Amino acid sequence: MALKSADIIADGDAIRAKWADGMSARFHAIWLRDNAQDEATRDAGNGQRLIALSEIPSGIRVTGAKSHGDVLNVTFSNGHVTRFPEDWLRTHAYDRAHVATPWSDAITLWRGDHTIRCAGLGDLQSNPDALRQWLAAVRRDGVAKVHGLPTTSGSLEKVVNLFGYIRETNYGRWFEVRSEINPTNLAYTNLGLQAHTDNPYRDPVPGLQILACLENTVEGGESGVVDGFAAAETLRQENPDGFEALARYPARFEYAGSSGVRLTSKRPVIERNPDGEVIAIRFNNRSMAAVTDIPFDDMGVWYAALRRLGEIIDAPDSQITFRLDPGEAFIVDNTRVLHARNAFSSGGMRWLQGCYADKDGLLSTLSTLEAS
Ligand code: FE2
Repeated sequence: MALKSADIIADGDAIRAKWADGMSARFHAIWLRDNAQDEATRDAGNGQRLIALSEIPSGIRVTGAKSHGDVLNVTFSNGHVTRFPEDWLRTHAYDRAHVATPWSDAITLWRGDHTIRCAGLGDLQSNPDALRQWLAAVRRDGVAKVHGLPTTSGSLEKVVNLFGYIRETNYGRWFEVRSEINPTNLAYTNLGLQAHTDNPYRDPVPGLQILACLENTVEGGESGVVDGFAAAETLRQENPDGFEALARYPARFEYAGSSGVRLTSKRPVIERNPDGEVIAIRFNNRSMAAVTDIPFDDMGVWYAALRRLGEIIDAPDSQITFRLDPGEAFIVDNTRVLHARNAFSSGGMRWLQGCYADKDGLLSTLSTLEAS
């Protein structure tokens, strides 16, 4: 879209740019100088900024602004001259009403009737388009499945190798989720695990978890996933004050292992960006510590909200339940999607391996694939 005009306003403290379709946006002189796209300001190779803010005069003004259709030429009071591609300016315009929304445009909230995207490991390894779509599903839904993994120890690394690196913890590169039932003692029951996010006592929490199945001959033991953001949205609609309490006040989480590990964190159950967008859920009853950072008068509201959030998460229609067979794995965004395990009680073996990875690596790979 071509630029129609650019006028200096407020004695050169800003300009007003207008486009042919009627769009209009003001830009401050300091913002324009700081974000100049020229080689004196940005490295031509890696795009990193070459100047510090202290090198720009605090009272800098625009002394010249001329639009030439697809570029805007700007001269500053300190003599610097630069040019902005009009489409860059348009994309980065900030002169608009900022409406705070709790959910990013990049995600879609879902409930138990949602279908999880599933792809074969071989296809993901050899077909960039299939990988792009699968990674985009992780970004959008916070969960996806893979089939076709070798049923050998450590094969879950092949899933992480598609987009990034394992995040090693005190549990190792990966950990065993293995239960053997004594068939002569049917009273022995492996209890189900309520839907939870992993390791809320770490700061930052692992952004992604991968769980792969190597063996599964038990009855029961199905895996389940719940969209924690959708659950939080239900709470927000039902009880805005309760949602606010869970987002406003920090909870405390802790884990003390047997080998000198003491991990603690002080973070809210519902975490928001400063602009109000929810960026993480922490929900794990087993590792919640005594909460001591909530005023006496608000503790009751906070507990009622946490109880209700748990009820929403536990509701059958919130959860997608599936059996994980040998050679299958699933990945969850551990800042958003909770995972659960049903009880299992028959004879047989259930052997899963799990590992963590960072979300920024996945999003980086996705972004690269989308740009190519
Ligand atoms: Fe877990």
